[in-house]
Amino acid sequence: MRGWLLFATLFPIALSTVFNYKLHESNDEEVNRCVANAIEQIQRETCLFWEDGDEDGDPVTFLQSGHCSWQASNKTVHLSPNCITDDTCFEILGKVADIEQPRRHISRHINIKFNCTEKCTTECQNGGVLDDECKCSCQYGFKGDNCEKLSRAHQFTDTTCGVIKAQQSGNIALSTHPDNYHKQTFCQWQIKTEDPWDVIELSFDDFDLDNDELPPGQHCNDLFYVYGAYGVENPIPCDGERPRKMRSESNWLLIELRTNPFSEKGHKGPEMRYQVVNTKSGIKTLSEEQTSVSTAVLSSLLPIAIAALRLL
Ligand SMILES: *[C@@H]1O[C@H](CO)[C@@H](O)[C@H](O)[C@H]1NC(C)=O
Ligand SMILES: *[C@@H]1O[C@H](CO)[C@@H](O)[C@H](O)[C@H]1NC(C)=O
Repeated sequence: MRGWLLFATLFPIALSTVFNYKLHESNDEEVNRCVANAIEQIQRETCLFWEDGDEDGDPVTFLQSGHCSWQASNKTVHLSPNCITDDTCFEILGKVADIEQPRRHISRHINIKFNCTEKCTTECQNGGVLDDECKCSCQYGFKGDNCEKLSRAHQFTDTTCGVIKAQQSGNIALSTHPDNYHKQTFCQWQIKTEDPWDVIELSFDDFDLDNDELPPGQHCNDLFYVYGAYGVENPIPCDGERPRKMRSESNWLLIELRTNPFSEKGHKGPEMRYQVVNTKSGIKTLSEEQTSVSTAVLSSLLPIAIAALRLL
């Protein structure tokens, strides 16, 4: 051990966390490109270093197969042209580093776990984006160092507004429902879960908003928005069908209602129902190999353990 310590002190760079890997020779160009892009990104965002070659005799092998998975027992990443996306390739590298998170969280978790002190460990919530200074720049409706707060909460006019910690499913409507809402209602509901792999499906049982005497070109006198969902165009019209079912891009949705203060008739507002769906099955760790995961990870962590010793 003393020898290692001396070595570690003399050659600190060689002991930054290195993953040796090789691309199987039969892989398609498309598969290798996906791996190369993910490696380039992970090296930019974290302090992990990926080295092509099998000098240490036990590299991670990227192998084109019929599926996408991580087989820890023989350190093989299986990739198929049918399931590779930029996110899959990145998430699978996360798995190799024993970080089981969606794409947007992986680098931060790696930097915390591997003590990448010179890299960013800030987590931006609710769709906030990291800037070059490792600070979050928040999306509409959010504020705080990590975009963790609703920026307009002080304006809410109804007791049901605010963050809803989602269970499996639930209903959302104004407290006045099924009676008519008050004029000048301003409300946001943020449906949110703890598990980053969850997505939220939102459907509408009723959508009674002000569509009386619509001026030309206008599709609703109330303003209704849903942020954080796929393919939604805001504001959402209320002059036709109820909105179709929506699905969140991650584990939250932000819904906003601003009613028209000049409304002449009464309306009840929306009546919504949400359902939480877990999407964790995305990339598998091959199940028959589960028992050997820990040892494979341990051996891949050896260089870090040594680096940690150096600090003592
Ligand atoms: C790992 O095992 C799988 C079968 O379980 C095999 O297809 C693959 O080639 C192996 N990987 C290496 C690097 O030998
Ligand atoms: C990271 O640093 C902490 C304390 O600073 C230490 O306890 C831990 O073992 C380190 N982890 C690694 C992987 O080096």
